[in-house]
Amino acid sequence: MQWTGYEPTDPKLVALYGKAKVLQWDGAHELDWDLPIDPSTPLHVEAFPILELPIFQRLTTAKREELAARFTQIALSRFLHGEQGALLIASSLVGLCPDYEAKLYAATQTVDEARHVEVFARYTQRCGTIVPIDPSFRAFLDTITGADSWIAMLIGMQIVVEGAALSSFHAYRARVRDPLLGKLLDGVLRDEARHVGFGTLYLRRHVAELHADDREQLADEAFEAVIAFDRTRAETLRTSQAAFEAAGVAPAEVMRDAARWLADGKQRRADWTRDGITDFILPTLSRLGLLTKRAEQRFAQARFTPTLSSPLMTQLDALVHSESL
Ligand SMILES: [Fe+2]
Ligand SMILES: [Fe+2]
Repeated sequence: MQWTGYEPTDPKLVALYGKAKVLQWDGAHELDWDLPIDPSTPLHVEAFPILELPIFQRLTTAKREELAARFTQIALSRFLHGEQGALLIASSLVGLCPDYEAKLYAATQTVDEARHVEVFARYTQRCGTIVPIDPSFRAFLDTITGADSWIAMLIGMQIVVEGAALSSFHAYRARVRDPLLGKLLDGVLRDEARHVGFGTLYLRRHVAELHADDREQLADEAFEAVIAFDRTRAETLRTSQAAFEAAGVAPAEVMRDAARWLADGKQRRADWTRDGITDFILPTLSRLGLLTKRAEQRFAQARFTPTLSSPLMTQLDALVHSESL
C-alpha cells in the first residue's frame, strides 16, 4: 500500500479523473429493467461464428437458436466474472499506484467496475443461470492481482483484460437484438474505453522512464499475460461442450470441424478474441514501447502477428480517444 502527496503532476490524468466523475451512470435507474427480455434471443445466432461450422449448419433453426441462447449465457457469465476480477484489481490499484491523480482515477474505475458487476449480474440472472467461472480464467485474474509490481498489474489489467473486454463488447454490441442489453453495453463500452485510455496514458509516462533492461522485463511480463489470457479460451470451449452435447452434437466432431476450418484459413472469422489480441492489444503494447524485438519474436512463435493498422484498431482507437483524451 502506497501513500502519496496531494500535488497532481499530469494534467491529462487530472482531466480524465474529472471526466470519470461526471460520466458515472446508474444502471439501476437509467436502464429500463421492465422491458421484457426473451431469454432465448438477446443475441443473434450470427453473434457466435462457431455456429457457422458445417456441423451446426445441419441442425434445425430452433436447435441453433437454443445453442445461441446457451452460448449467450456462457458469454454473459464470462463478462460478469471478468468484471468482478476488474473490480478486485481496480481496488488494488487505488492502493498501489504511486501518483496522487492516478489513485483518484483508480477509485472512479473501482466504482465503474462495481456498476458493471451489478448490471451484468442482474441481466445474466434475468436471462437464466450464471455459469460458474472457468478455473483457468479465475487463475489468470488472480495472477494479475498478485503481480509483483503495480506497473505489471496495470499492464495485465488496463491493457490485456480491458483491451480484450473492449474488443469483445464492441463485437457483441454490433450483434445485439435486445434493446436493454444494447443500452447496457453502450454504457459499459464507454467506461471501458476510458479505462484503456487511462492505462495507455499512465503507462506511456512510466514506461518511457524505465531502463532498457526493465522495459524488456516488462515486455516479457506483457507477453506472458497475453498468452495466459489466450489459454483461458480453451477452457471456455470446454465449458461449451455441455451445450454441444445437449444439442446432440458430439464435441469431438465440433473439434474436427473447427480443425478443418483452421487448416482452410477460415479461423479468423470464428475468433474475435484473437482479433482483439492481434488488432488491438499488440498494437497498444507497441505504442507503449513494450512490443520489443524479443517480444515480437515470442509472439510470432505463439502465432500472434500484430496488425498495426486494422478497421478494429481504428474503431476502438476512436472510442478510446473520445472517452479519454
Ligand atoms: Fe468493466
Ligand atoms: Fe474496466
